[in-house]
Amino acid sequence: MEPEDRGMVVTPWKVEGEIDYEKLIRQFGTQPIGDELLEKFRKHTGGLHYQLRRKIFFSHRDLDWIFRKLEEGEKFVLYTGRGPSGPVHLGHIVPWIFTLHLQETFKAKLYFQLTDDEKYLYHDDFSLPYTVRMARENALDLIALGFDPKLTKIILDVEHIDALYHVAIQVAKHITGSTIKAVFGLKDSDNIGLTFFPAIQAVPCFLESLLQGRNVPCLIPAAIDQDPYWRVARDVAPKIGFYKPAQIHSRFMPGLGRGGKMSASQPETCVFLTDPPEEAKKKIMNAFTGGRPTAEEQRKLGGNPEVCSIYQYYFFLFERDDGKLKALWEKCRGGAILCGECKLELAGRVSRFLEQHQEKRERARDKLEEFLLSGEERRQILSSLLSKV
Ligand code: TRP
Repeated sequence: MEPEDRGMVVTPWKVEGEIDYEKLIRQFGTQPIGDELLEKFRKHTGGLHYQLRRKIFFSHRDLDWIFRKLEEGEKFVLYTGRGPSGPVHLGHIVPWIFTLHLQETFKAKLYFQLTDDEKYLYHDDFSLPYTVRMARENALDLIALGFDPKLTKIILDVEHIDALYHVAIQVAKHITGSTIKAVFGLKDSDNIGLTFFPAIQAVPCFLESLLQGRNVPCLIPAAIDQDPYWRVARDVAPKIGFYKPAQIHSRFMPGLGRGGKMSASQPETCVFLTDPPEEAKKKIMNAFTGGRPTAEEQRKLGGNPEVCSIYQYYFFLFERDDGKLKALWEKCRGGAILCGECKLELAGRVSRFLEQHQEKRERARDKLEEFLLSGEERRQILSSLLSKV
């Protein structure tokens, strides 16, 4: 399925145009996160995370079931991931920050998959050593955000295939080529690795069940473009004896240009976590805003935060206090703040964040092994198969 509407394209490999999230819910057949579910979050987490309050996470599949299971005493496991096509940018960490919140409040174990295989297969010009190396580099950014080493298992697809393969082929046996073609829009001329890969992305949904020897509910927080993978995984899960994985879907953080998602293929529109803080500042100072052509007009008529990329940066990451965010909106609308000042403030926040993150990221190098799925854990997963032979 390729929802393509007035330039809107949302697939796991391409997100373009102006995104209509209501329409995505209808086209993908997911559910909006309503008041009842927000109430559940409030009850279980003692408040509402800013990403829920702002509907950054806006859609789901089976989240009500996850809470039901929880209330019956069945804890869930979290699963998310990243395609290591290059350095991590600020847009990528939006769902990771929410995942961290879920890990902290529910003391939930997290599987984090780095798909060096997927990115190698998808990009003609990427070598395998490149994506394998990027996977380890991207893992550092995850670790630097503060995930708990005891509760976090990072999966490097290529290096950890010994634990994944036996599950992947069971998934693959239940998916036809025509399903994959239809769901992912693949063509006969695409390489066959891409046809098989969705089986690999389904595997982490089931790993905790294999380790524990009983079904464990799995919740996947991820941007909504990953949903096609979950449709396939959910279809197969009961056929091979597992619960269907549940999802909670986030919106995309826009880039610093005019409209559209932040995109690594346009480096001037996104701040990478490895950007020197000075460079990030420059990108922000050059960003597209909702400002008027002159300061005089802006003071008189006010700016338009609705279309402003800088405002979106505050909204998605850099102003977590709703009252302060609202005050900024009103100041902008009323012409009480000019774009230069607003950008400068954001540039300061972003560069302070980057300085701290980059320090933690360097320290994470020594912790990487502790986070990776270990040989012992991989043997344990495999033995869930061998014990039945
Ligand atoms: N396919 C994802 C990407 O290209 C990577 C990924 C693997 C993922 N497993 C995931 C993303 C689970 C979110 C949740 O980025």
